[in-house]
Amino acid sequence: MKTKTLFVCQSCGSQSARWVGKCPNCEEWNSYVEETSTLREGSGKMRDQIAAQAAVLPVLLKEVDLALEKRHLTQIGEFDRVMGGGIVAGSVTLIGGDPGIGKSTIVLQAGCALAQAGLKVLYVSGEESVKQAKMRADRVAQAANEHLFIVNEIDVETISGYIHELKPQVVIIDSIQVVHLAEFSSSPGSVAQVRESAAVLTQLAKSRGFSLFLIGHVTKEGMLAGPRVLEHMVDTVLYFEGERYSSYRVLRANKNRFGSTNEIGVFEMTAWGLQEVLNPSEIFLCERPTDSSGSVVVPILEGTRPFLVEIQGLVARSAFGMVRQKAQGFDPNRLSLLVAVLEKRLGLNLGDKDIFLNVVGGVKVIDPAADLGVSVSVASALLDKVVPHDTAILGEVGLSAEVRSVSQLAARVNEAQKLGFTRCIVPKNNFKGKNDFKPSHIHLIPVAGLREALDKL
Ligand code: TYD
Ligand code: MG
Repeated sequence: MKTKTLFVCQSCGSQSARWVGKCPNCEEWNSYVEETSTLREGSGKMRDQIAAQAAVLPVLLKEVDLALEKRHLTQIGEFDRVMGGGIVAGSVTLIGGDPGIGKSTIVLQAGCALAQAGLKVLYVSGEESVKQAKMRADRVAQAANEHLFIVNEIDVETISGYIHELKPQVVIIDSIQVVHLAEFSSSPGSVAQVRESAAVLTQLAKSRGFSLFLIGHVTKEGMLAGPRVLEHMVDTVLYFEGERYSSYRVLRANKNRFGSTNEIGVFEMTAWGLQEVLNPSEIFLCERPTDSSGSVVVPILEGTRPFLVEIQGLVARSAFGMVRQKAQGFDPNRLSLLVAVLEKRLGLNLGDKDIFLNVVGGVKVIDPAADLGVSVSVASALLDKVVPHDTAILGEVGLSAEVRSVSQLAARVNEAQKLGFTRCIVPKNNFKGKNDFKPSHIHLIPVAGLREALDKL
């Protein structure tokens, strides 16, 4: 028996022979934990077996048959789109998210749908009993189906035994943090266990050609245990996000070898499981006040799909000379930058003010086209001037307070038009060259700078 003591970074998985305070690789503090990996005799046997099965010979690239890339559709449109148009056979997908966000629910719904379509699905529930899963399935899926198998198991070797026996086409591991390989003595959830278990299951998926879903919890710090290690191993990484007390959830692709990473899927958590939200703009705007300063609507683009979000700003005089800037759903550093531009270039008096920004509905906006909307929201809150409720705002803001062009203007403007907006502030730069985009029911107001945008409101 061989015993090795190692210190492993719980954030990125890098190793060291002694303890270090700050990880030299990912620069995380205090992330090293001692892991004694006791390798039992004959260990690695399973991996060798799988590797032997998986051995394939090189082929000519031009002879590779793409028809073999089969995709399974769940018929849950939002889910299929985020996956890049269905689930590729033999692919490995990691779904991460906070506890309680709905990861088990979404995979169970997808599993039920795939089983309904005639695929053999194995759902390995390490956290909940089979009865609990059944109760959930009864709630979220309309009909019981014959192709969904479920088991409560955490031992990877036993799980792989079930896979050999059942020969499923889809396997769901809920969650990767509770399963373990008996040949390692470190506890489930540690980086070593997560990495090794995922490696074994991934190899198995590749060699046998089933699609594998791994569920992972995000830790308090917002990190999937050993995220970088897993992200490299899998084909697709999806994050399930949402505010704890909002019923809307967003599924976002972070990495996708089989599709675009910009796609998002929007769901609402209901008493009957997750329902698709087909027109996110409507729900994100339905509670918008029409006479409140600081409220701005921005057509953002997520992947191929535009939708409108409401941004709310609040500016208050700061107490005790300690200014605060808080942003929810928007990068706080970007907010600071935009506030600095408003102060320096437009002379707005924001230096002694608390500034709060909120993107309604629990959406996270990373699209730079929201810059102008955010700036206008802060200015509108400061000056207590209401932005007309039929006006949408679009544009990226540069450090000289210039408004820069945005991608896919037409798609964004059309979405605003569809929802009844009659005016849209857009970057003048988008109309350079031969852009002759002229929508019929919305009046476009091109602006070159932030000041001009405020003047034209
Ligand atoms: P769950 O999928 O168990 O979360 P995770 O696996 O990410 O930890 O979902 C948990 C929450 O969802 C739980 O608080 C209850 C709620 N929920 C509903 O509101 N409706 C439903 O139909 C289901 C199944 C769950
Ligand atoms: Mg769960």
